[in-house]
Amino acid sequence: MTWSVEVRRAPDPGRLAADVRAGLAKTPVEIPPKWFYDEKGSQLFDEITELAEYYPTRTETAILVEHAPELPHVGTLVELGAGYSRKTRLLLESVRPALFVPLDVSEEPIRDAATRITRDFPDVEVRGIVADFEDELAPLPGFDGDRLVAFLGSTIGNLTPGPRADFLARVFRATAPGDLFLLGADLVKDTDRLIAAYDDSAGITAAFNKNVLHVLARELDADLDPDDFDHVAVYDSEHHRIEMRLRARRDLVVPLLGLEWRISEGEEILTETSAKFQVEGLRAELAAAGFAVVTTWTDAAADFSLTLARRV
Ligand code: AVJ
Repeated sequence: MTWSVEVRRAPDPGRLAADVRAGLAKTPVEIPPKWFYDEKGSQLFDEITELAEYYPTRTETAILVEHAPELPHVGTLVELGAGYSRKTRLLLESVRPALFVPLDVSEEPIRDAATRITRDFPDVEVRGIVADFEDELAPLPGFDGDRLVAFLGSTIGNLTPGPRADFLARVFRATAPGDLFLLGADLVKDTDRLIAAYDDSAGITAAFNKNVLHVLARELDADLDPDDFDHVAVYDSEHHRIEMRLRARRDLVVPLLGLEWRISEGEEILTETSAKFQVEGLRAELAAAGFAVVTTWTDAAADFSLTLARRV
């Protein structure tokens, strides 16, 4: 079968600078988590998914192994956040689409997935889309009412409630009545286990967190030494979210973007929030966005959830 890639958003070196400029104006300073994922960061994230402490990936995969066969067949499978994971394969084998649409911010994983999928699933046409989740997602290829949009891995957890509602509204606008939405979301649980998942004993998550400083150093020519920072993971039980931060080990002055960024010893930069959900809360958020929950599947320990909803 054929594959193609539609580039809706070309890489723009100015975006990191704009994000960092906006983040420097906040207290605490924020760097959006999407900038973790250069080549090294993506590799570290893959290592995270294998860690004993990091249960989400293996738990979501196990839920899919058990329940994906219950998904209906659809003409079009859209996966937000591409790659060719075991989860993608499980979805393809279960919903048997004629058309697979991986959508991702970077082109390389889409091209890579597209070539491998056309090899492994010769009957499936692949039409990749390079776009940012922050962009409008419409139009999505495929026939109304015959589409399943999957957003796995609890990537939705990176969004705080306001942007999350905006994101769900974009999914709503990009889908038609009868389309299905499959959402993977990490669940609230024991705080110690949550923190361990984001502060593993091998220090892989610490390296992943600090990698964003390498990205700033390289892309913005910033004189930043990751060793001047400590990895910090805390659970905010009021907002039900993990926060990853980088805490300065000493006072620093970093020339960056024509500014002098002054960081005090002990000051923390917020690099990621990862929301943890409750099944009922997710149902309510989906309903508010125009999606009626069909089923929620969880593992026996209720560590992770997969929710299948129908676009109203
Ligand atoms: C890819 C956003 C789902 O929040 O668990 C893993 C990223 N950060 N370890 C998550 C992450 C630290 C991950 N998501």
